[in-house]
Amino acid sequence: MKLTLGFDVYGTLIDTHGVISELEKMIGATQAPRFSQVWREKQLEYTFRRGAMRKYLNFGICTRQALDHTAETLQHALSDEQKGELVSAYDTLPAFGDAGNGLSTLKNAGHALFAFSNGQAEAVETVLENAGIRQYFRGVVSVDEIGTFKPDPEVYHHFLKVTHSAPGNTWLVSSNGFDVIGAVAIGMKAAWIQRSPAVILDPWEFSPTVILDSLDKLTHSISSRQP
Ligand code: LAC
Repeated sequence: MKLTLGFDVYGTLIDTHGVISELEKMIGATQAPRFSQVWREKQLEYTFRRGAMRKYLNFGICTRQALDHTAETLQHALSDEQKGELVSAYDTLPAFGDAGNGLSTLKNAGHALFAFSNGQAEAVETVLENAGIRQYFRGVVSVDEIGTFKPDPEVYHHFLKVTHSAPGNTWLVSSNGFDVIGAVAIGMKAAWIQRSPAVILDPWEFSPTVILDSLDKLTHSISSRQP
């Protein structure tokens, strides 16, 4: 059976901590990993809060505002130019090592692959192109089209609508637990990619359909779970 697959982008296909090398030049190797982590967490917090408040501003703005907050909290006096460089580094973040192989196997099996992201479509197109994995996707679906963020249920319904898919044969593939829970809660199937054993899934009433530690195993795993 041919399936529709929506791939989360940042954190699942693309490594957001790719900014660490840029950060190391600005604040040193000891501080850079923590800065990157706090920045990412604040970025997501801003999307959750803006979604809950119905005060949408796009993902690029959330990313920049989270950067300002992180620099001030961790007391690093970054110039506007340095902040500009860090935000630009988002366009050239690397793909995880398993992305190309996993995506190409799924595409060759005849499934319809879409990138499905909080990021604006243009930014997602750019990062996928630069990371060398754009060619595996039929298209990009962005939350920006409806002005809210994951895990608002509207986002997952929007994905089903624009890809002309039914929840029972549509999978979300994501390393972000909140994203997996959001998709399962509206009846989609979901593969949670556990990128590190230290990352724990929230103990909520929704569970992923499958849990994998690599995108390489996806084709076999989802095929065996479809009627
Ligand atoms: C995305 C965020 C969740 O790509 O990282 O949608």
